[in-house]
Amino acid sequence: MKRRQSKNTLIISFATAVVVLLALYLTFNFEADLTGLIFRFQLDKIATPAKIIAGIKLVLLGILAYNFVRALGFLVFGMFRLRKGFDAPTLVRNVFSIVVFSLLFLLIFSFEFPDANLGALFTTSAIFGVILGLALQDTLGNFFAGISLQADRPFQVGDVITVGAQRHTGVVEEITWRAIKIRTFQNHVVLINNSSAAKEPIEVCPRDNLNARLVFFNTLYTDSPAKAIHVVREAVREADNVSNRITPIVRIRNLGESGIDYECKYWLDDYAKYNDTDALVRQRIWYAFRRAGLNFAFPTRSLLVERKQAAEKRPSDGGAIAERLSAVDIFAPLSVEETGMLAHAAVRHIFAQGETVIRAGEPGSSMFVVHSGRVRVQVNENGRPRAVATLNEGDFFGEMALFTGEPRTANVVALEETEVLEIGHAAMKRVFDTNPDLVESLSFIISERRQGLATQADTSSATEDESAGILSAIKRFFGLS
Ligand code: CMP
Repeated sequence: MKRRQSKNTLIISFATAVVVLLALYLTFNFEADLTGLIFRFQLDKIATPAKIIAGIKLVLLGILAYNFVRALGFLVFGMFRLRKGFDAPTLVRNVFSIVVFSLLFLLIFSFEFPDANLGALFTTSAIFGVILGLALQDTLGNFFAGISLQADRPFQVGDVITVGAQRHTGVVEEITWRAIKIRTFQNHVVLINNSSAAKEPIEVCPRDNLNARLVFFNTLYTDSPAKAIHVVREAVREADNVSNRITPIVRIRNLGESGIDYECKYWLDDYAKYNDTDALVRQRIWYAFRRAGLNFAFPTRSLLVERKQAAEKRPSDGGAIAERLSAVDIFAPLSVEETGMLAHAAVRHIFAQGETVIRAGEPGSSMFVVHSGRVRVQVNENGRPRAVATLNEGDFFGEMALFTGEPRTANVVALEETEVLEIGHAAMKRVFDTNPDLVESLSFIISERRQGLATQADTSSATEDESAGILSAIKRFFGLS
């Protein structure tokens, strides 16, 4: 669109230049005929023919000069763009055009009207100057404030700024003769006069700077600050657009009426998206709190917290967990009592979409069953994640580290909001003691999954030898005979 527009401008300028050149040629070569025409139409009553012809020439040469200035500006600012990689400010371009055009026009004027005393024209028009000055007071104020803004360059197009007592906040779109144009986060355009902006304090968040934000939250007095700080810091640092160049800072702001007040300070990669990022950070804090058993403080907390605890111990929850576990294929051989015991030992955790449930390389002494949602098993290959499997409700993971004592072999990431049931070493040992066959089916599954983890180049089917090796490793690790 922009390219087509400049093409049209170029064609129009070229056509105008050709027409004006032709007219100039005619004016210079047929001056006698033109004088005749002036007498014929009695225009000589207005001014002498020589002056009228000089006026015509002045207008034509002026148009030519205007075209020349535009072409020159195109060349100069085109080169500027090539060198610097961005457009020169509109204000600078306009000042350039006006100065060059005025100089050229004065030159042409003194050439065409050598008798006119330009100095006297300027000095004797003092009254005119005062009137013009008064009329243009605001405009000139804006203009000079604009020039000083361009010279200082306190902010640039693309930066987020907050201006004045009304605290207009938005992304700078343009700095013109008259005003700074910002686009607010409600997609409104606000124009702030350069002269008012020059008088007001301006808060600038430059685009290429690591700008920080503060998000506030609180906890009950019974929740450990060390735990809350750790949990929130880890949850926030993983959120999108939170810079990984500086670790978020979580600290206590106040010991408030209803609980402990905290602030979380984090730095953004793209500050213009701070509204979305603040919201995501708050969401991550909620999920992290839920998993860690932390509680937000609010005035009616005592009553509500007690009701909530009572609700969590409802037997129907235990029933739902036992039902889920009995549908897991490896637990199918267990008796109702054994499944009940596992359900009792299981701990529920909730994860937001994109959160990591377990990390490759970390030690692990528990396994997980997907209660609701979906997770993806992925490994890092040449610095990029490779998906190994997607696990749905009723599938399990984390058994490799639990049964062999080796570090976690892969990352497991929630694909949507996912609830998992965590079963620890002690509960599994009790199950193994009464169900020795379980170890065998597990060792085969582990050996198959290991094949899936291997790179495409070295895949081969799960061998019985390997599965037997895993079997004895599990027995050794769990102290089974
Ligand atoms: P663990 O090594 O404890 O932690 C990562 C988990 O990813 C691992 O246990 C398995 O439960 C799971 N996993 C690894 N490879 C596969 C696979 N090929 N298919 C399904 N799950 C897997």
